[in-house]
Amino acid sequence: MGNISRRSFVGSVAAAGGACLLPQAMAFAPAGKWWRSATAYQVYPASFCDSNGDGVGDIPGIISKLGYLQDLGIGFIWLSPVYASPMVDNGYDISDYQDINPLFGTLADMDRLVAEAKSRGIGIVMDLVVNHTSDEHRWFKAARQSRDSEFRDYYIWRDPKPDGSPPNGLQSAFGGSAWTLDEHTGQFYLHLFASAQPDLNWSNPALRQAVYRMMGWWLDRGVAGFRMDVINLVGKDIDREVTADGPMLHPYLREMHEATLKGRDCVTVGEAWGATPRDAIQYSAEESHELSMIFQFEHVQKFWDEKFGKWQPKPIDLVALKAIFNKWQVALADSGWNSLFWGNHDLPRAVSRYGDDGEHRVGSARMLATVLHLMKGTPYVYQGEEIGMTNAGFRHIEQYRDVETLNFHKLQRAAGRSEEEFLAGARANSRDNARTPMQWNARPGAGFTTGKPWLGINGNFTKVNAEGDRADPDGVFRRYQQLIRLRRESALVREGSFKLLYPDHPELFAYQRELAGAKLTVLANFTVRPTRLGVASAGMVESISGRDVFSGKHHVVTAESTFHPYQVLALLEP
Ligand code: GLC
Repeated sequence: MGNISRRSFVGSVAAAGGACLLPQAMAFAPAGKWWRSATAYQVYPASFCDSNGDGVGDIPGIISKLGYLQDLGIGFIWLSPVYASPMVDNGYDISDYQDINPLFGTLADMDRLVAEAKSRGIGIVMDLVVNHTSDEHRWFKAARQSRDSEFRDYYIWRDPKPDGSPPNGLQSAFGGSAWTLDEHTGQFYLHLFASAQPDLNWSNPALRQAVYRMMGWWLDRGVAGFRMDVINLVGKDIDREVTADGPMLHPYLREMHEATLKGRDCVTVGEAWGATPRDAIQYSAEESHELSMIFQFEHVQKFWDEKFGKWQPKPIDLVALKAIFNKWQVALADSGWNSLFWGNHDLPRAVSRYGDDGEHRVGSARMLATVLHLMKGTPYVYQGEEIGMTNAGFRHIEQYRDVETLNFHKLQRAAGRSEEEFLAGARANSRDNARTPMQWNARPGAGFTTGKPWLGINGNFTKVNAEGDRADPDGVFRRYQQLIRLRRESALVREGSFKLLYPDHPELFAYQRELAGAKLTVLANFTVRPTRLGVASAGMVESISGRDVFSGKHHVVTAESTFHPYQVLALLEP
């Protein structure tokens, strides 16, 4: 492939075609911050690859697909939880942080995954779920034995109000009160998620030290870092009913950094719903000594209904969507670091939410990938996104397994919402949309399992699958491969400045990156209709020319140029 000059930037991606796009391992570069040139891939273990026919994906299954992931070019895997768990919330309810759920394999399998991934230049990032445990964790079992238990203070307990009702009005994210009465000891415990997920008491230093020791144990086993589940909740002040972004959040994160992360070449990403750019800088600026980056969800929550929330999504307003990305790109230009994503295991499929999962499925999936991956930050690909997988399309509540969906179904039905309305919301936004099994091929079981899958396989697997998509030089996988490679090879993609173009254009998503005199202009039709740049508006650039980094063709774009549905150009000049 020769050296990585700007010329090869232009030519090689198109020329490389399908052949081997990924030779050299780049992760764990001694210079640190290797994650700034890496792309992440999220594996949701239950739904990725089932090696033993029990209908549930597992660690040996993931190991068997490392070649596929290496071919895609990723730098690290965010592995959703594989710890011991009763699986009330699919592993986000952990009963032992230092053991593996037998459904997924053994600790030896985990060590093998870490080692084999590492030999391919891929880091394994564990999901760190320490806002809460499972109610089957030995800490909680001991804590509920008596008010004097040595572990009582690992959790958050309050007396009932005089009338016997919960201590305050805090609500669970999965619906209903966040308090459950423990009959045996006569106090309520806090759970911001399911009642089987009691919240840990971070104000207890012994608990914090236990968490840090556990993190060190995993880091010593060779994991490349942590994705920190709802980490913005750990500094909570319950008596003031403050849960997110509480007063002790950042002090705890600095303490954690000092105790476990400092001096290690790892990556950390905190899940922080509701974070502002200011918060993000606080978390991710180098001098903060907290995290590498966070996930924030402004572009997701902007399009939820005021009353029914995610269960009644609003249509995407492109001007508003662009304004959000622009705000984050600009705010974190010089300090802090962005993560970039369309989807994850809690969100609908990218192509169903932001693109067209019908006629223009492939084109819109390629457009979405291009728009996202050419911004500044670390992109996260959610399993199946790289082949344009779509929402589940379930028609009956019985098809769902997700605890959140089932809880809200009960609550909203009880509040008078019709079955049809709720199901329409769930079809758009239930977490199970992202959790249907990975579609590897067109054979029965979609190449995911030889058994009965734990959650229904999307009916379109004979058409939408990795084998078929990868055989198509214009497929979705190929575009992800190209984009991931560009990030590794191009300082312009990694570090260049960002400027939103045509902010008020209702159909085009356009921006420009610039570094050392080189410019990359991305122009994307975000709609199913043909569109033009049209008349000058704020941010207008008279005409744009350059060579498309994918096709290698030279383009001159003027106000009159037409963009066909979901067309995207990425023009490099000079
Ligand atoms: C995070 C996870 C989600 C989980 C919740 C509770 O939001 O992404 O899947 O249900 O935390 O752990």
